[in-house]
Amino acid sequence: MKFGYFDDQNKEYVITTPQTPLPWINYLGSEDFFSLVSNTAGGYSFYRDARMRRLTRYRYNSSPLDMDGHRIYIKDGETVWNPGWQPTKTPLDSYSCRHGLGYTILEGKKDGVTARQELFVPKGDACELDRVTVCNGSTVVKELDLFSYVEFCLWNAVDDSTNFQRNYSTGEVEVEGGAIYHKTEYRERRSHYAVFWANCPVDSFDTTRDAFCGVYGGPADPQAVRAGQCSGSIAHGWAPVGALHIHLTLAPGESHSILFGLGYIENPQQEKFIAPGVINKTRAHAMMERYATDAQVDAARAALRTHWEQLLSTYHLESGDEKLDRMVNIWHQYQCMVTFNMSRSASYYESGTGRGMGFRDSCQDLLGFVHIIPSRARERILDIAATQFADGSAYHQYQPLTKKGNRDIGTGFNDDPLWLIAGTAAYLRETGDWSILDEQVPFDNDASKAQSLMEHLRRSFNFTCTHLGPHGLPLIGRADWNDCLNLNCFSEHPGESFQITGPSEGPVAESVFIAGMFVKYGHEYAQLCDHLNLTEEAAAARKHIDAVEQATLTAGWDGAWFRRAYDAFGKPIGSKECTEGQIFIEPQGMCVMAGIGKESGQAAQALASVEERLDTKYGVVLLQPAYTSYQLNLGEISSYPPGYKENAGIFCHNNPWISCAEATLGHGDRAFAVYRKTCPAYIEDISEIHRTEPYVYSQMVAGKDAPTFGEAKNSWLTGTAAWTFFNISQYILGIQPTLDGLKVDPCIPHTLSGFTVTRRFRGAVYHITVDNAAGVQHGIKAVTVDGKAISGNVLPLAAAGTEVTVQVTMG
Ligand code: GLC
Ligand code: GLC
Repeated sequence: MKFGYFDDQNKEYVITTPQTPLPWINYLGSEDFFSLVSNTAGGYSFYRDARMRRLTRYRYNSSPLDMDGHRIYIKDGETVWNPGWQPTKTPLDSYSCRHGLGYTILEGKKDGVTARQELFVPKGDACELDRVTVCNGSTVVKELDLFSYVEFCLWNAVDDSTNFQRNYSTGEVEVEGGAIYHKTEYRERRSHYAVFWANCPVDSFDTTRDAFCGVYGGPADPQAVRAGQCSGSIAHGWAPVGALHIHLTLAPGESHSILFGLGYIENPQQEKFIAPGVINKTRAHAMMERYATDAQVDAARAALRTHWEQLLSTYHLESGDEKLDRMVNIWHQYQCMVTFNMSRSASYYESGTGRGMGFRDSCQDLLGFVHIIPSRARERILDIAATQFADGSAYHQYQPLTKKGNRDIGTGFNDDPLWLIAGTAAYLRETGDWSILDEQVPFDNDASKAQSLMEHLRRSFNFTCTHLGPHGLPLIGRADWNDCLNLNCFSEHPGESFQITGPSEGPVAESVFIAGMFVKYGHEYAQLCDHLNLTEEAAAARKHIDAVEQATLTAGWDGAWFRRAYDAFGKPIGSKECTEGQIFIEPQGMCVMAGIGKESGQAAQALASVEERLDTKYGVVLLQPAYTSYQLNLGEISSYPPGYKENAGIFCHNNPWISCAEATLGHGDRAFAVYRKTCPAYIEDISEIHRTEPYVYSQMVAGKDAPTFGEAKNSWLTGTAAWTFFNISQYILGIQPTLDGLKVDPCIPHTLSGFTVTRRFRGAVYHITVDNAAGVQHGIKAVTVDGKAISGNVLPLAAAGTEVTVQVTMG
């Protein structure tokens, strides 16, 4: 069942009922100011850091669901309704929600009145704009009361939801004309405030939640709205809100637009106040002036549209399969941009208060993002590298605002360092900007310990070389990519962290997955050495890699697939010797992508085992058989009920690894089949089972052992976004940036007779047509560039500013 449809022309998903199986959200903003907005205008806003600079409150697991947001109420006689249905839930005569690139448009109609709420964050500014257009389509004059409402968060989202003994006394506001200034803590250690305004005079306002909603009321039925009038309340502590009321008289056929804004303003210390206790509003005034008229708002929307057109033009596919085209051209790349901005911090599942930015997550996000805005990728790489320790290990997470490593979780996730190589190598292949390797980058954010980025990569590589276990495989530490495989932790008490309790790092437990990574990214590191003429270092690196590869093919091999790990007692995990958890997805994907066992046939055998044992109709599950009880020597993975999350869920992130691995072996049919199974556009029809947004990936879909097989959770912020785009664009469609130029090497279903890709690469535009009249899955017979045959399939670098036409014939 569907709850909407794709509008590819406008690059939107159009939701046609507010009662979607779960709130379906969108992200506004891509620089400093962000808002999450659901299909009923629920959501929240923050500046840079969802924990430290939260502008509006959000209650995650509340019932009813999704009550907090940027609310527009319309009172028409005795009827009160919202254009997005929530929170009054007054039945609408019609409803739609268009989630587009960086904007959302809600439109509701009731008793002849149409109200359209258009939300976006303008480029280059720290505010959310909500333009509300009300149109009287009836035959009578309408007297309408319009209210716009937000509930402020007292900035630190954790403190805000826990420290009530203090917070009920700190809230402060100022009101000036149609603007409400939320200035809690500005009097002391903050130099920022929020402003909530309308671009026209208001008829009344409230700034306390008690006055607007009623002490025992709520946003579903605010007492001020029912009364048709706010009371001019001024918040002293408790819960400051912004509520603005405007009375409209609309003749039949008349319409009227009002702009509401929610902005973040920061003042220099010495310019904080204009009089004792009175905040300096100059910057806020300037912000309001930037969006005073409809024409200004239109121009800001147009600039946003151009920005996105430009971003998406780097990679454009025409394949004849509309689902594939819309995912590649719009939604995959859009989700990549969002995961790049958010890492795993703020969604409807990530509270924005916990994880900050993940080291491995952000490095992987680069793989899907680097072609879009390489300059921001460069900056991100340097930020991430600055949280690395001098021994090559890394903080597992860091806070976006301070860019400092998170000491609570610390280090010891032994895959982390290698992801830095993965992200940096992807950047170099995309840009050829070798200067990044010379950048001086601190260790542990200490500038006095700065070394070149190349030295950081060297230490990443060496970290694995110096942390090998009894079988010559990499030690796992607290965990590898699978945060829940905690082989050294032995957590026995509720509330303990699965990863960082006890003697978390052991000298015995090894990871075959990291071995695969080391071979794959180790080779990428060696290629950088080649390029820098570090011949001896490259040779030495390859010796290490060969040794780990050998260990993987022997100690890491179980007979028909790659083992997953060895536990702290040296017992294999992911082996036929185990009763549960006999085969895991991760090492099959990573080792085959690394080319391990390609010659010997072990790679093909491993993938055949995946198909036989892990495949389901909704995707490939993480392991089989699922763990049915908690195993102290395995940790969190066995804490989940069978079929959920890392315990045999369909963890979407590593499905593309299998697809990439199949492509590595030239299996185009199977690579595409795996891609399709989890791909949103192809499963839109089962939205009632899948439940999360049908335009983006979720982290997890319940596996076949789960009672809710096929149900997804944790949408938006997942490494699936990057890996899927990496997979479809580079492995399947085969347009691969390399250090020396763009390589074309498709591995597609034999039924796809051809496709074209327009790819901007290092300043030139390549129009690539692939002809597969031969109906093969892999292999190239001929390549011409501007009509001339070339040998091989790496396109000669075209000069920046030029366009070249490439014809590729498969066969
Ligand atoms: C989550 C984490 C990611 C981890 C994965 C598997 O998605 O963000 O870092 O690799 O789970 O545990
Ligand atoms: C939990 C989740 C895992 C995630 C981790 C992040 O362990 O199961 O998916 O990566 O938390 O800390």
